[in-house]
Amino acid sequence: MADRIRLNDLRRQYIPLREEILATLDTVFQEMQLFLGPNTRAFEQEWATLSATKHAIGVDNGTDALLLAMRAYNIGKGDEVITPVNTFAAVVEAILEVGATPVFVDNDPATYNLDLAQTAAAVTSRTRAIVPVHLYGLAADMDAVNAIARPHGIVVIEDASQAQGARYKGKPVGGLADSAAFSLYYSKNLGAFGEAGIFTTNDDAIARRVGMLRQHAADPANRYIHVEAGYNSRLDEVQAAILRIKLRHLEAWNARRREIAAQYDALLEGVVATPPRFSESDYTPVHYVYVIRTPERDTVKARLLAADVESGIHYPVPLHVQPMCAHLGYKVGQFPVAEAYADQILSLPMFAELTDAEVERVALAVKHAVHDLAPTR
Ligand SMILES: Cc1ncc(COP(=O)(O)O)c(C=O)c1O
Repeated sequence: MADRIRLNDLRRQYIPLREEILATLDTVFQEMQLFLGPNTRAFEQEWATLSATKHAIGVDNGTDALLLAMRAYNIGKGDEVITPVNTFAAVVEAILEVGATPVFVDNDPATYNLDLAQTAAAVTSRTRAIVPVHLYGLAADMDAVNAIARPHGIVVIEDASQAQGARYKGKPVGGLADSAAFSLYYSKNLGAFGEAGIFTTNDDAIARRVGMLRQHAADPANRYIHVEAGYNSRLDEVQAAILRIKLRHLEAWNARRREIAAQYDALLEGVVATPPRFSESDYTPVHYVYVIRTPERDTVKARLLAADVESGIHYPVPLHVQPMCAHLGYKVGQFPVAEAYADQILSLPMFAELTDAEVERVALAVKHAVHDLAPTR
């Protein structure tokens, strides 16, 4: 029996880096500057360079990066924030946490990113921000999002958690709008060994505010004076040291992910619905996950597992029908694309260390799994 192919096998990423990581950790532990130490500062600089932004501020996780962004822009009660309905729950948590109202838009059936016509139509006098999510590693159409927001003075905060290193019209995500939040959760294209996140912006005042909020809003001139209620949300030095080592490989890992995606595209053409493809000059995706669509998704998932191929679902329950959003009054049927796709989407194994033979094995397993099922419409 062949080995199980995991959705993401991080042990295979660790092995070639093991000695370097352990040596670096020893240095960190000998120096014992565990918060806001030299690795954190250096990583922030390196991340700002990657994102082509003036500032990058390391925080505890991606959810906090979104939350601190909401706070920094003084978004709160009475304000509306537009965001797509198929994404991870963190955006909504951040919006609700500051007392604002999430306003959902459907996902575009072709790109899976936020529907631009619905975004434009969702703008009201109370809209304070739009949070486009670069879902699955593909940038949202940021020129279009910015064009909707700018005339109304609406803030645009990219959720770039799934798109580290992705580009849009040649420019890196993270610097395509007013600011951006990145998760560096362990399973992301660039992941910590645990939790981490980072916030980017070109705005000095917003950067200063996020920098304070992550440290109990302590006054930089006197750390015992708390100028407002902040958070304990610093990126820690151990994670920063590991992230710096891994960052040197991100571009190569992302390039390999694109190769794998192209192999899947070719092998699965006409078998299942495959992800959207664009010219490289417009979009350079990083394939955080490779999502196919198939009408009998749960059967396919079970059959893949029986063939020792893991798969995932990003995400099975759209946000408007989540219990945490019940008070917002949305109904089933309001977001037909996201609702239909929630029952069809399936994420195939995707990580840089997958071999060509494994990609072929996955594709063959998908072909076998769907051979007697109805085709995707
Ligand atoms: C799109 C998106 N936004 C936000 C988050 C939240 O990040 P974290 O888990 O680091 O808090 C994640 C992932 O976890 C994500 O995929």
